[in-house]
Amino acid sequence: MLNFETAKELLAKYGQSHILEYYHELSEEEQKNLLSQIKLIDFSVLESLKDKGNEHAERGKFVPLGATTIEEIAKKKQEFTDAGIEAIKAGKAAAVLLAGGQGTRLGFDKPKGMFNMGINHEIYIFQCLINNLMDVVKQADAWIPLYIMTSEKNNKDTIEFFKEKDFFGYNSDFVRFFIQDMAPSTDFNGKVYMESKSTISLSPNGNGGWFSSMVRAGLLSELKDRGIEWLNVFAVDNVLQRIADPAFLGAVILSGSESGGKVVSKAEPEERVGVLCLEDGRPSIVEYYEMTDDMRTMREDDGRLSYNYGVILNYLFSLKKLESIVNEQMPIHVVEKKIPYMTDNGEFVKPDTANGYKFETLVLDMVHKQDSCLSYEVVRNNEFAPVKNPTGIDSVESARALLIENGVKL
Ligand code: UTP
Repeated sequence: MLNFETAKELLAKYGQSHILEYYHELSEEEQKNLLSQIKLIDFSVLESLKDKGNEHAERGKFVPLGATTIEEIAKKKQEFTDAGIEAIKAGKAAAVLLAGGQGTRLGFDKPKGMFNMGINHEIYIFQCLINNLMDVVKQADAWIPLYIMTSEKNNKDTIEFFKEKDFFGYNSDFVRFFIQDMAPSTDFNGKVYMESKSTISLSPNGNGGWFSSMVRAGLLSELKDRGIEWLNVFAVDNVLQRIADPAFLGAVILSGSESGGKVVSKAEPEERVGVLCLEDGRPSIVEYYEMTDDMRTMREDDGRLSYNYGVILNYLFSLKKLESIVNEQMPIHVVEKKIPYMTDNGEFVKPDTANGYKFETLVLDMVHKQDSCLSYEVVRNNEFAPVKNPTGIDSVESARALLIENGVKL
């Protein structure tokens, strides 16, 4: 247990002494809680504010990377599918649902997966995902272990919801929940926000720490005991996403790649999506804002954009590789977000616009740690319906239209 004096020293080092401002007004219990929060927080992430906007300043040389295209996949569909089904039947594949985010853009108070996409009947985001996974369970005639990452903020609600809905028909013996780590959030001057006099404002530390959080949760031995070799990581908010897709898994295995990423052809050169490419000869994702105009508009002989394949947060990683990189430092991204906080008058406020920074590592940075990554193209309208906003682009509205287009009854 950290004592008051040591905490004071530590906070002074990071310019965060205000955290203890009300310490002497607090009850003994509250004092204890505050000190244990301070102990658990990695304040060194705040140092990345100095490089804000320069997370990737040291980027290497980018060159385009082609993909296994929809046409090529169609020709080898059976071969890929057979290899994938064989691996699933042998218990070598697991799925990891990243559901620790706060979904601030959607503005829904509960975990995003609890959002009802239905119009005439209830069909929740979690349910859409489980239904998609069930297709593969039926096809392979084997349950696929599903690991669900939550955060301190939404873990309880998420677990209760799954229990209440009887796991939407999934076999709960194959479902595990684990909690990701948290990081402090700050105002635009780098001062850590407080939620009350005794609680520091913490937010989930991004989706990049999913594997280390899994290991910390003690799940590595289970993965090994189960003989898992491949982990399919995916986001909660793409309701059309194919999970543990046998053809994708088979294609990655047969290609001998260390990893794989599902991609879609960019709708237009200016589309704001990260593109799978090579950086200094290794797979990498170049963000849309990092691309020069030349890169954005460059075309191959067949007319396709050279930087054409946008990632949709659906990756396959090998457990062996993940273990070997688990202790490597990941770049920290400083993101502007809406952060609920306590004002100087002790009032609790939920802001309508971004009022500070959160510190996140991202799963896409794991791709650059791989020796190879199979870029696997899928049909956008069949597999990509992200729910980020209430209306407009990547919204509940656009995702509903795509679900209907794909025959899902809403
Ligand atoms: P987003 O980048 O959309 O972030 O997450 P978000 O926090 O959910 O939403 P906004 O930006 O506040 O609106 C992409 C995926 O990564 C997960 C999300 O749950 C989603 O599946 N994620 C994100 C985590 O699991 N943990 C995090 O800390 C952040």
